[in-house]
Amino acid sequence: MLNIKYEHTTTKKEKPDYSKLGFGKYFTDHMFLMNYSVDKGWHDARIVPYGPISLDPSAMVFHYAQELFEGMKAYNDPNGKIRLFRPDKNIERMNRTCRRLCVPEIDPADALEAITAIVKCDKDWIPTLPGTSLYIRPFIIATDEHLGVHPSKNYLFCIILSPVGSYYANGIDPVKIVIEREYVRAVKGGTGAAKVGGNYASSLIGQQKAEEMGYAQVLWLDGVHRKYIDEVGAMNVFFVIDGKVVTPTLENGNILPGVTRMSCIEMLKSWGMEVEERLISVDELEEANANGKLDEAFGTGTAAVISPIGEFNDDGKIITVNDGKIGPISQKLYDSLTGIQWGKAEDPFGWSIVID
Ligand code: COI
Repeated sequence: MLNIKYEHTTTKKEKPDYSKLGFGKYFTDHMFLMNYSVDKGWHDARIVPYGPISLDPSAMVFHYAQELFEGMKAYNDPNGKIRLFRPDKNIERMNRTCRRLCVPEIDPADALEAITAIVKCDKDWIPTLPGTSLYIRPFIIATDEHLGVHPSKNYLFCIILSPVGSYYANGIDPVKIVIEREYVRAVKGGTGAAKVGGNYASSLIGQQKAEEMGYAQVLWLDGVHRKYIDEVGAMNVFFVIDGKVVTPTLENGNILPGVTRMSCIEMLKSWGMEVEERLISVDELEEANANGKLDEAFGTGTAAVISPIGEFNDDGKIITVNDGKIGPISQKLYDSLTGIQWGKAEDPFGWSIVID
């Protein structure tokens, strides 16, 4: 038990127009904070008015990027109940990332208590329009005031909340993706499988190039052979090739093990479909496309949900998927997954939990 202290805001913010939320632009009235020190462990759990955090300029997070985060969502169901989707899986991953970054883990029950408490505190911010939810962003930063390169001895755990619509500007319309040939996101032994800010910082140069070309995101290739498909940064990727679903294997440790990825695989298997987790080369993709066997491509992620991919650009070579339209498997996954998340459909898996 965290024994959370509450300091409620005296100036509630005006709510945004929920029909024009976009992603990550608005933040709620409160945030959750908890500190770590060697003497006390994780302590001083509190919910305070949302606002700036004051840190010494020498705080280690600013210099050596000892930072990690998670992404989850809370949903308002048709009965007015608040739901979370598989929070245990995000918490497990957060603690795996903690281990990779030498950050002290948080007791899973405490992490869930913190998430539940802040969501309940700001529950009037959970949007109800179709396609909207309350994005939950837990993160941990190293706060030691010190420039030596060592794991910090002090940390801050923070949870902020943001009412969101779809991640991409055009909702569930298929996105266009550039295959990145110059830069890499991760290599075996690195931090590709961990949810650390540094992965995203190093991906920005590819993202910037993609946006300049009019594309939504980058498809990252493996850092060694530069031929196998890893992921898209904000999402994992799936392909339907000749009727079979395939997705890059997690075995190399390059790829973020997405909770939505895992859920899609489990859901597809429950429908009796075969899912292959294996190496997929760009050559295979191009060949499947040339033979008319590349049926569908889509990304999965908490923010992105299921995002159909309508086009890949590989150094000017264009691969159009399913005539740039959403395919039947992507659509069925989107409907089934969001049905469970929003509490509108049966949840045979027990993934969706009511917290209030
Ligand atoms: C998520 O899907 O929650 C992510 O963290 C991806 C991204 C917005 C960085």
